[in-house]
Amino acid sequence: MAKNHVIVLTNLKSKIQESKLPQHIAIIMDGNGRWAKKQNKLRVFGHENGAKSVKEVVEASAEIGIKHLTLYAFSTENWNRPKLEVQTLMKLLVSSLKKEMSHLHKNNIKLNTIGDIQSLPKKVYQELMDVIELTKNNTHMTLTVALSYGSRDELINSLKEIAIKVKNNIISPEKIDESVINQHLYTHNLPDVDLLIRTSGEQRISNFLLWQIAYAELYFTDVLWPDFKKQDLYVAINDYQQRERRFGKTSEQIKTTQK
Ligand code: FPP
Repeated sequence: MAKNHVIVLTNLKSKIQESKLPQHIAIIMDGNGRWAKKQNKLRVFGHENGAKSVKEVVEASAEIGIKHLTLYAFSTENWNRPKLEVQTLMKLLVSSLKKEMSHLHKNNIKLNTIGDIQSLPKKVYQELMDVIELTKNNTHMTLTVALSYGSRDELINSLKEIAIKVKNNIISPEKIDESVINQHLYTHNLPDVDLLIRTSGEQRISNFLLWQIAYAELYFTDVLWPDFKKQDLYVAINDYQQRERRFGKTSEQIKTTQK
């Protein structure tokens, strides 16, 4: 790495204010296919390099002190991709988990999943369970991987569970509030998302954490996911820290409460 580049990187990282860190960052990792195509390679090559960016971003987040990182790795809609691509993504998941489990554990990172993980191939499911079990008491950061995840599915499941509890007189309808809904989502153990990043220039949410991003700051970058490295995360966090989060209040109200 060139010396100047190292200086820029250090500056970007050191500009991050610890007191204003997003507690929860969620990322829509997009652009693997286009990245591969640009190099006349198969889409699979893009995913393999995307896995390298996953490693970078997990490391960078843990180094800075982010408490929750959630990655959209496979959506409910992704099952409709060509069979070979789905198989490759599943293999990549298993190999990445195998390769990284001790590294995650050593760095006190807890693995968590959201989505219909029962629908994953047995091998993937088992590997996930092993890493979840190994890392369950870790406290430095929670890494949540969204797999076979769809936010509408998640909301439907949660509403069904609540409806059953109402029917069985476990919850009364008047008691249903945000916290009851939160408790029935896959993300029941996670705080709301503060910063949502999407790579590759697309500016949409694609059925990801619709409820949980109600007050998230959205950050879109043209960088394709396999090119997204530590410095790109620092840029996103620096951008986030320049914003004023008002949660529906006025700018004046926010400034008064900060005094
Ligand atoms: C989107 O790019 C990416 C995916 C659907 C898969 C994301 C998977 C990884 C980054 C690899 C492994 C993940 C882990 C957690 C180890 P795309 O294929 O939609 O790209 P395109 O829009 O350019 O076609």
